[in-house]
Amino acid sequence: MSLWKHHGNLERHSLLLIIGIVVVVSIGGLVEIAPLFWIKNTIEKVEGVRPYTPLELAGRDIYIREGCYTCHSQMIRPLRDEVERYGHYSLAAESMYDHPFQWGSKRTGPDLARVGGKYSDDWHRDHLVNPRSVVPESLMPPYAFLATKDLRTIDLQAKVKAMTAVGVPYTQEQIDQTLVDLQAQADPFSSDAPALRKRYGAKVVNRDFDGDPERLTEMDALIAYLQMLGTMVDFSTYQADAPANQR
Ligand code: HEC
Repeated sequence: MSLWKHHGNLERHSLLLIIGIVVVVSIGGLVEIAPLFWIKNTIEKVEGVRPYTPLELAGRDIYIREGCYTCHSQMIRPLRDEVERYGHYSLAAESMYDHPFQWGSKRTGPDLARVGGKYSDDWHRDHLVNPRSVVPESLMPPYAFLATKDLRTIDLQAKVKAMTAVGVPYTQEQIDQTLVDLQAQADPFSSDAPALRKRYGAKVVNRDFDGDPERLTEMDALIAYLQMLGTMVDFSTYQADAPANQR
């Protein structure tokens, strides 16, 4: 009974109540935040995850510039309906080199975390030029201008370098070869393609993404980016670490 009496005091004095709330809430906060200072890393390393190639990075910037994230998320939650629709749930490591990350929470259109390889490059080009040409009921806006706008490359090397400031492990060689790798990935006949793959992994394919071999356009970059999404980790061999209490 006496406990209730004291609680009555707390309820009648707003200052006491505020102090009480702050004490209780900060205990919760400490329990959540304090361990982060002692563990080295919250992201488990996963094989296959690599920094973006210069072309993909340029495509990602266009994705952000055009606000694609206002309608599309890039995070598959570990819920059955999502996994059945989109594929394996997203791993933290898959966005560890994403600055800023594109998880999002708004899905006017579908999640894009694993859209890579789902459609052909032609489909993406047609869809971006006029979404209604391939999905008649689509309400996505058209982005036809991307196919006629040359990709701005003058500041790309600086962008790659800037990524290292936030922890993306680009090597000096990758930074130096930014423009070579950029051209190599967009050209199906490039003699620099083997060097590109050596720097970014065997899965990187060099091809003409936008169907216009004469020019390197923003469409090339955006499609290269979309086709890479969700393809870095090989889920036929991926094994999640067992939770700590089951090891
Ligand atoms: C106003 C909302 C909106 C914006 C902005 C938007 N989209 Fe979409 N998007 C949709 C809707 C709705 C669909 C589903 C219908 C369709 O396929 O067109 C879709 C579908 C897609 C698909 C096919 C996904 C799949 O799995 O079938 C891709 C790829 C895509 N959008 C890429 C983009 C890109 C890239 C941008 C930015 C340049 C963008 N979208 C901007 C609404 C949007």
